[in-house]
Order: sequence, then C-alpha cells, then structure tokens
Amino acid sequence: MAASLGRRPISLMASSAPSDPGRRRRLLYGRRKGPKLSPHKEELRRSLLPQLALPLESGRDPRRYFAADVGDVWLEVGFGGGEHLIEQARANPQVGLIGAEPYEAGVAKLLSKLEGTDVSNIRIHEGDARDILEALPDARLGRVFILFPDPWPKTRHHKRRFVQMEMLDTLARVMAAGAELRIASDDAGYIDWVLERGMAHSGFAWTANCAADWRIRPAGWPQTRYEAKALHGPPAYLSFVRRGNMGG
Ligand SMILES: C[S@@+](CC[C@H](N)C(=O)[O-])C[C@H]1O[C@@H](n2cnc3c(N)ncnc32)[C@H](O)[C@@H]1O
Repeated sequence: MAASLGRRPISLMASSAPSDPGRRRRLLYGRRKGPKLSPHKEELRRSLLPQLALPLESGRDPRRYFAADVGDVWLEVGFGGGEHLIEQARANPQVGLIGAEPYEAGVAKLLSKLEGTDVSNIRIHEGDARDILEALPDARLGRVFILFPDPWPKTRHHKRRFVQMEMLDTLARVMAAGAELRIASDDAGYIDWVLERGMAHSGFAWTANCAADWRIRPAGWPQTRYEAKALHGPPAYLSFVRRGNMGG
C-alpha cells in the first residue's frame, strides 16, 4: 500500500463547489437515516441532543460553545458511533471536542454512550462538518480528525471525497499554527489521494519520518468502530501539522 506519489500526473485543482452561499453544496455523505431507532434512542434525541447540540454561530470563538473553560478545541469530522470522540474527550478534559455526523443512528449511538456519564466537553453537530468549518473564525482549532472517511472509490465519485485541495484550504484557515490534522483510511486509493494533496498543500507538512509512523496506530489515537472492522486493507494513520504561516 506504499503511497504512489508521483506515479501519475494528477490534477490537484479543487473539484468541489466553492463556498459561495448562492451555490448548492455537493453532498459528501451517503445517508442520514438508517433503520428505525429504538424508543430509548428516540428519547435521547429528544432530551439529550438539544443539551449537547452546537448552537452554530458564524464567527463565534468555538471555546464559547462549552460551559467549562476549555483551553483548546478539536473537531472530529464524521464520528460514526462516537467511540473515538468520547475517548478523546475523556483523555483530554481540558479540551472542547466538537463532533460532526449527519447519520442519525451514529449520533444516537454517541448519545447512548454519553448518557449517565460525566463527560461534559463534547458538542454535537448532527449534520455536515462543512457547516462548522464555514462558521469558524481563523486559526481556532488545535486538532482535526478525519477518520476512515467514506472512500468513494469510483472515479466519478472522487469529487465527493471529503479531502480535496479546497477543503485543505479551509482547514488551513481554521487551524492554528502547529495544529494537527489526523487522517486515517484503510483504502489504498484514498491514502494515496490524501498524501498527494496533503504534501502538495503549502499549509501542511506530513510528519512521518519512517513507515512505522503511518503504519502503526500512534499512542493517543483511539481505534474507531470502522477501523476495528478493517474492511478494505491495512489502515494508514496520516498526521499533518499546520505550518506556521497562512499559505506558507
Ligand atoms: C466510513 S464512516 C467512518 C465513521 C467513523 N469515523 C469510524 O471510523 O468508525 C464515515 C462517516 O463520515 C460521515 N460523513 C461523511 N461526510 C461527512 C461530512 N461532510 N460531515 C460530517 N460527517 C460526514 C458519514 O456519515 C459516516 O458516518
């Protein structure tokens, strides 16, 4: 699964629609609704979700989304069932964790894990992570996780992949200098795709020094549910650091 950098000429032009409010966004995820939720999960959606939902406000400092003082804010894009998000929240109580997930059953699963715990540093956006990114002021996130994003393997669907050059521009804008962007995938084609773009983007530097750095899950990087299924192949754990200057 070695990254095939430079193997073939690729266009690194952004392929998704720019964030022009007049234009419709391309849908990046598969579905919002799944099987019918249990009555208990429906109840959690009614009672707990409103307490944890992110009241999105354009330009608002994301630390102000949390009741407690948090020193930093991290974002997880597509948290699935929330296993990773909740572990990060527990391990880092001084950090505010924002999770975005449009899949209703995934959100309900996270709610059932949070019910009755004292975890208070998670805020949930049941929707597209791009809503959050567009609302954030510059340089406010200390870490972003994109773990096992939908690989959209068919060429005609590549435009639906979350990681695009334009998305890296957006992430570079909202991430503070020195912030970490973690991307994991078990799809060899998507791993190549991410590396090609991540290494071509002037706002980010790939931190790996040797193969073990991306082949072995680093400490402090909890396993996700999708990863545990290892559906396509051995995962790669890619860590990029936001360079010091915007665009430089
Ligand atoms: C393959 S699943 C992986 C879930 C989880 N990260 C894991 O590893 O178990 C990808 C998830 O990303 C979510 N997703 C796709 N596009 C998204 C977007 N634009 N914003 C937020 N979540 C998104 C999907 O709904 C899906 O739950």
